[in-house]
Amino acid sequence: MFRFTSTNFVNPLMPNKFFIQHTLLSYNKVESTNTTAMTRIKTGEAHHGDIIRANYQLGGKGQGQNTWYSTEGNNLLVSFICTNLKLNASKLAVFNMLVATSTYRVINRYFPNRTALKWPNDILVNDKKIAGILIETILQGEFIKHAVIGIGINVNEQVFPFAHAVSFTQLSGLFYNIDNLLHELTEQLNLELQKLYTSSFDSIKRDYETVLYGMNLKRYFRTENLTFEGIIKGINAQGQLCIEVDNEMKTFNQKEIKFDFAEH
Ligand code: BTN
Repeated sequence: MFRFTSTNFVNPLMPNKFFIQHTLLSYNKVESTNTTAMTRIKTGEAHHGDIIRANYQLGGKGQGQNTWYSTEGNNLLVSFICTNLKLNASKLAVFNMLVATSTYRVINRYFPNRTALKWPNDILVNDKKIAGILIETILQGEFIKHAVIGIGINVNEQVFPFAHAVSFTQLSGLFYNIDNLLHELTEQLNLELQKLYTSSFDSIKRDYETVLYGMNLKRYFRTENLTFEGIIKGINAQGQLCIEVDNEMKTFNQKEIKFDFAEH
């Protein structure tokens, strides 16, 4: 494990203060950086602002029951630890939006005009997934006590065993420095997460919706037993997707709806 400590980062959760113990813990192989982060929180070894990074995950976790694909050393696999947040659980959706917007903004610098944020937190370039986010929390009563922000970015992967993923390298033919990307992502998260305390819900929502895939466009959606046409109108404070269907506004949770945007 490689350990690096820096004092230069603004603590996103305490504006005007710095991460006094912002430590990068770099591993070669772990089961999952999110699991390592959670274990460290539970054993009391974690500090707010710690970053867990690995070259390879034996069991990288995706959303739901999915796994996260990455060959060794080729991609950014990272978890950011937030401890003792005391953030009201009703702010989880906003927290999610800020993390997604941060990741979007970093990737959009490399691939402007073709990067999009697909609800709730997939980042796409040319309609293919380039990054995924898995936020896990420990709640205490009505508060999020601790959070682990897991982010996977496909950087130098040359081939995927499925068609819906893409990497920086596949898009540009170039190879990228993963450490630099981690640094950019950390800075962007620091900038955006401060908004939890400094910005209104409306302005955070506006930033998110501005880059939301399919926003205000007529598209096809699928629920368990129905395919229908609708227009994404944005998201609400609970993080649900709002879709106008036949002039009526409907809201959906993540597991309730799929959208592939193919014409039916
Ligand atoms: C998704 O399915 O879109 C979420 C993918 C999240 C993957 C990242 S890789 C680093 C961190 N550790 C994990 O096990 N998962 C997240």
